[in-house]
Amino acid sequence: MSRSAHPAGPRHADVLPEGHYSAPADDLNALDPKVWAHTVGRDADGVVTVGGIAVTQLAEEYGTPAYILDEADFRDRARAWRTAFGNDADVFYAGKAFLSRAVVRWLHEEGLNLDVCSGGELVTALSAGMPAERIAFHGNNKSPEEIERAVRAGVGRIVLDSFQEIVRVAHIAQSLGMRQRVQIRITVGVEAHTHEFIATAHEDQKFGIPLAGGQAAEAVRRALQLDGLEVIGIHSHIGSQIFDMSGFEVAAHRVVGLLRDIRDEHGVELPEIDLGGGLGIAYTSDDDPREPHEIAKALTEIVTRECEGARLRTPRISVEPGRAIVGPTAFTLYEVGTVKPLDGLRTYVSVDGGMSDNIRTALYDAEYSVALASRTSDAEPMLVRVVGKHCESGDIVVKDAFLPGDLAPGDLIAVPATGAYCRSMASNYNHVLRPPVVAVRDGAARVIVRRETEDDLLRLDVG
Ligand code: LLP
Repeated sequence: MSRSAHPAGPRHADVLPEGHYSAPADDLNALDPKVWAHTVGRDADGVVTVGGIAVTQLAEEYGTPAYILDEADFRDRARAWRTAFGNDADVFYAGKAFLSRAVVRWLHEEGLNLDVCSGGELVTALSAGMPAERIAFHGNNKSPEEIERAVRAGVGRIVLDSFQEIVRVAHIAQSLGMRQRVQIRITVGVEAHTHEFIATAHEDQKFGIPLAGGQAAEAVRRALQLDGLEVIGIHSHIGSQIFDMSGFEVAAHRVVGLLRDIRDEHGVELPEIDLGGGLGIAYTSDDDPREPHEIAKALTEIVTRECEGARLRTPRISVEPGRAIVGPTAFTLYEVGTVKPLDGLRTYVSVDGGMSDNIRTALYDAEYSVALASRTSDAEPMLVRVVGKHCESGDIVVKDAFLPGDLAPGDLIAVPATGAYCRSMASNYNHVLRPPVVAVRDGAARVIVRRETEDDLLRLDVG
């Protein structure tokens, strides 16, 4: 993204400060379909609507801040992934992006499987009726209790992340008189082009067992000897918010290379490979994500080609998109509390939420866009920073964006593409209450995760 030139015409600041922002859109009232959920638009009065409901009405009924989720869009995207990969592959939605019981039911209905990474996610999935055999259980430090619960429930696979876990899961399964289907997560040594904190295939990090130095091969060797385990495949997740398919290409090449070595050494062709999730979405108009059918085609071709080269039967592929399904389906609706112009710098717009409902900006330097949602305006664009209400100067929701110069307290603004990793990473910092998730579909809205209350806070604080 490039720093824009100062656009022509009168502007709020004479000199634009440093920042990663593009020039203001020609029409600040326009809603780029790339970053907004499918059913989002504006009504005749200029109010943003989703699923046929005006945000002013949603704000009145459910308050702000609130995550507003377009259920039809969620189902469309889930189905698009499912259809793109067809019946010879499995799509596991990564629950860490956002999980609730309603979401589990939608996934079940749309034929997706589910990846969980904690006992809490597992319990949510099971309690909403996801069949255990369609659940994959991840994590680099699953507790013995979590493992036992997963094995007893009959989860379809546990993804093993360390030598100790190989033994631990085998022991637990065997002591229950069971044989657990497992995949072994390896790190293939790929440097994914993404933020350091969300890259996971280079060797110097906590996930997986390195391919380098024969460690992954040794892990498979040990796992194949244990009665409590049925080794069904190899797992690789290279990172998140990735647009460039070359990382997947290298990963597939190396995973298939390991399958070949396993066949040569043990005479076993493992039937599955999982290439993880991590496909990027558009947070701003500058991002250009690929469609699920393009991704499915590319991944299937890569794996097929590599397997032909290694003379292996093509294994069943699975993928684990989280963000790419839920991310674009929701926006956060905030009410503007104060508008503070700082001469020669920018205007600080304070909203009624902040880093407790979206930590991604502070944590990953993530970029978001924002729109005035309760009305349109023809006022000149002003450069803003949307900030929260927390006692922390890094409490930034949108670092650099343009909003109409007549923005005022009481206006509603909406930040799109907040469906993934915003509610799921929300906190209670400053004892700010976590917002609800309101699902909208065909003119009807319902709360799927309610707003936290002061009673909730006090209930945990046992005095
Ligand atoms: N599979 C595995 C094994 C993963 O670790 C992850 C994400 C996914 C799938 C899903 O990745 P996705 O398709 O959603 O990118 N909190 C960070 C992202 C951390 C992702 C952790 N693992 C963020 O807000 O960007």
